[in-house]
Amino acid sequence: LFDSLTEQKPDQLLELIAKFAADPRSGKVDLGVGVYRDETGRTPVMKAVKAAEHYLWETQESKSYIGPEGDPAFLRMLALEVFGERHAGKPVAGIQTPGGTGALRLAAELLSLDKRRKIWIGTPTWVNHQAIFASVGLQIGTYRFFDIGTQTALVDEMLTTLRNAAPGDAVLLQASCHNPTGAGLSRQNWQDIAAIIADKGLLPLFDSAYQGLGHGLVEDAAGMMSVIEAVGEAMVAVSCSKSFSLYRERTGAAYLFGDLQASLNKGVGNLASHARTSYSMPPAHGAAIVAAILQDPSRRQTWVDELNEMRIRITDIRRAAAEAFGQFRPELAGIGSQEGMFSLLPISPENARRLRAEHGIYMPDSGRINVAGMRVEDVASVAERIGPYLA
Ligand code: LMR
Repeated sequence: LFDSLTEQKPDQLLELIAKFAADPRSGKVDLGVGVYRDETGRTPVMKAVKAAEHYLWETQESKSYIGPEGDPAFLRMLALEVFGERHAGKPVAGIQTPGGTGALRLAAELLSLDKRRKIWIGTPTWVNHQAIFASVGLQIGTYRFFDIGTQTALVDEMLTTLRNAAPGDAVLLQASCHNPTGAGLSRQNWQDIAAIIADKGLLPLFDSAYQGLGHGLVEDAAGMMSVIEAVGEAMVAVSCSKSFSLYRERTGAAYLFGDLQASLNKGVGNLASHARTSYSMPPAHGAAIVAAILQDPSRRQTWVDELNEMRIRITDIRRAAAEAFGQFRPELAGIGSQEGMFSLLPISPENARRLRAEHGIYMPDSGRINVAGMRVEDVASVAERIGPYLA
C-alpha cells in the first residue's frame, strides 16, 4: 500500500517552522506561521492561562470522557464572549472541536451533504481553506477578494459574486483580521454583504480565529453579528489558538445559528456523529482552561488586559511597518490601517525563497508576513532588507 501512494508536499507554513528553527544564523527573522510573538520574540503562555491551569490542577477531579460535544460550560461561556449576550437575538448551539480547523472540517462535512451546493471563497485566503472543503467533495467557487498592488479589498467583486450565487450556496467569510491580507471591511460593506446573503438565501460560514487582535473583542465581531442578525441560518468556526495563545492545545468550537432550537440541536447531533467517526471526542485541556478563564471575573480581566496588550503591540508594529515599507511602495503604507497579524507583500515566490536563503527572513512563497514576528525597533531594518525584493 504505502509504496503505491502519491508523494504529498508538506504544508509550507508548517514546514517553515522547522526550517526556521534549523537555521543557525543569529539575525534570522520569522515572519512565517501565524503565532503572536512578544517584544522578546517569544510566544509566552498567557498569565490568565497559567492561573486557569493552576486552578484546574487544584480542583479537577477526573479525566474521564465528556462526550463528542465537549464541555457545555466552555461552549456557553465562549459563545457569550464571541457573540455577546444577545447573540443577534437568535438561538445558537455549539460543539467543541480540535481547534478552528476541526470546526471548519465539521462544518464542511455538513455542507457537503448537498452535492449541488457550492461554497464561495474569496482569494487569497488561508492556505488550508480550499483543501478542507475539497477534502469533503464540496464544490468550490472563488472570487478575487484582494488586490496586492493597491492593497485594497475588492468588495465589489465579492458582492457581484454573491449576487450571482445560487440559493443554498455557502459563503466562507473571515470575521476579522483577514488571513493573509489584513484587509478589514467597513460597516457599510458588512451591511451590503448581509443584505445579499439574506436576499439570495445563502448560508454564511464564518471563520473567527483572531477576535480581539484587530480593533477589540466586540468590534472584531460586529460585522459577523450584523450578518447573523440578517440571515436565517449561519455557521461559525471559532478558534481559541490566537486569542488565548493556546495553539497546540487545539481548542475551538463550531456554532450553528437558526430560528428553531430543535433544528440547531439536530445540526449539532450531526456534527457530533461526524466527530465520533473521526476523532471521537475533542481534547479537553484547552477548553477547560478557556472555561476557567471566562467563568472567573478576575482571570477574565487578566486575559482581556493581556489580549489588549497584544493588540496594541500589533498596532504599533503596523504603524512602524507602514512607514518603513511605504518608502519602497507608497501603497504599502496601507499596512498601517490593516488589522490582525497578517499583511501580504507584493513579492514573487522566487524572491521569497531568496529572502530565506540569503537573508534568513522567513515568509511563505505567497509573500504573507506575520507582522507580530518583528520587534518595533527592528521593523525599519527588516523592511530595508525586504525592500529590494518587492515586485
Ligand atoms: C497561519 O495561517 O499561519 C495559522 O493559521 C497557522 C496554521 O495552522 O496555518
